[in-house]
Amino acid sequence: MEILGFYPTWYVPGIGTAWVMGIIGVIHVVASHTSVGASFLFALLETKAYRENKPQWMEFIKKYGMFLLVFSYIIGSITGPGIWYAITVASPRGVGGLIHNFVWVWAAEWVYFTVEVIGVYALVYLIGKVDAKTHLKLTWSFALASWATMLLIVGILSFMMWPGHDGWYLTGSTNDAFYNLNFFAHLGTRTGSMFVMAVVVGLMVASRMRDLELRREVVRFLAPIGLVGGLFAVMMFFYYLQTLPQNAIVMLHAHLKPVYAQGMVAVFAVATLWLLFAWWQPQRIHASLAAAVFLFVAIVGVWPEERMRESMRKPYVAGQYIYSNQVIARDVPGKGIEAEVDRLAEHGYLKLHPFVPERLRTVTDQNRLEVGQLLTKIACANCHALEPGAPLRNIPDKLHRAVDEDLILAFLQGPLKHGTQPYMPRIDLPEEEARAVAHYLAAVNRGDNVERLIAQQRRQVSAQWTSAQEE
Ligand code: HEC
Repeated sequence: MEILGFYPTWYVPGIGTAWVMGIIGVIHVVASHTSVGASFLFALLETKAYRENKPQWMEFIKKYGMFLLVFSYIIGSITGPGIWYAITVASPRGVGGLIHNFVWVWAAEWVYFTVEVIGVYALVYLIGKVDAKTHLKLTWSFALASWATMLLIVGILSFMMWPGHDGWYLTGSTNDAFYNLNFFAHLGTRTGSMFVMAVVVGLMVASRMRDLELRREVVRFLAPIGLVGGLFAVMMFFYYLQTLPQNAIVMLHAHLKPVYAQGMVAVFAVATLWLLFAWWQPQRIHASLAAAVFLFVAIVGVWPEERMRESMRKPYVAGQYIYSNQVIARDVPGKGIEAEVDRLAEHGYLKLHPFVPERLRTVTDQNRLEVGQLLTKIACANCHALEPGAPLRNIPDKLHRAVDEDLILAFLQGPLKHGTQPYMPRIDLPEEEARAVAHYLAAVNRGDNVERLIAQQRRQVSAQWTSAQEE
């Protein structure tokens, strides 16, 4: 029997690996979108400064560029690799799937990123040291390289939602994967919102400028760009919603809209009012208020947006063929990939997963609890916390703390086995594995100290083993 290519499971109590990735990802998105948006603001500002001969505007660009260097670029360059570390252990097969589709896209993205980083240093430190026209060309190159990194990553992120048509499953071609159905809508939404974020940060920088006339001019130039960006982002977001697969729409209506819709509207309203106010009263924008608006946009806008995108994708992590719990959901002839759900149903995780410890490969009365815990971590914990009350859709609360093993088993062998919940993978386990999961979940729901029980049982088993050896 052929073992399946699973990796060890990384488990984070309470928030799950999903939130670990989410938190790092959101910080990264805030930093990176601000920088990409700012690169275009610089290009537009500098073009105007060049045409209308306003060298004093370069003062603002220098200040803002410095601010980006110290905050965005440092934070962005730490969280970027941070995302790689986190996703590689949280979803190794998801990452593997993406690499097998997009390795050259990523390579190209790194080239553009290098240009971007060199660009921002050159831009800041060459102000006044090279002639204005050369500097302007440099700034535009910096902006285009920055946006190229966004464009390439968005192609990959959109494929995570779905390829959008069956072509890719047959060809496996990078082109079919990259220009997936929601690529342009997604790119448009991020492009619009990057302007809003960059302008909001720009106002923060502007609020610290002493020269009031310069401040007025710059703010009046920036605020309309933010407003147009915001409107564009909203339009593209509605277009984006039209490009989603059915499972995402179910998730959106049933679980996400009720929680996040008001926050999204509030962010749009607050940002719009703030930009209008800034345009109207450029002298009266205070740094503390500007920082508060920025935090509001990041926490009430970006965090829900990223979480929504990740939740909507459920049950898949990428391309509608890799489930979040790492199991391959369907055949992908174009890549020579075969579905695994039925093989797991027939032989079970305990036989097919390479990282199950030998002593847990056969279920006994003494290890059932530990096997159940392991299987729940492998099969469910990518999407669910296992601790009652924990924030990541914890299973005990989802089961209303049911303590009846047969009832839990009926859920596992009903909806889960037959894949009737559009947001959950089809998880079809052999009878004894499903029983172990139900046994473990019932113990957790009862409030048993599961870790202590498992430790006790392990001690018992090893004592029995030692005494058997001695005889
Ligand atoms: C791909 C992610 C994913 C995996 C893997 C997953 N679930 Fe779920 N599960 C969800 C989502 C999403 C919901 C519904 C959303 C919500 O309630 O927040 C859900 C809901 C539930 C519910 C509530 C009842 C219902 O049908 O809505 C239970 C119980 C549950 N899951 C148990 C499990 C168990 C047990 C496992 C492992 C054997 C598991 N889930 C694996 C994503 C997943």
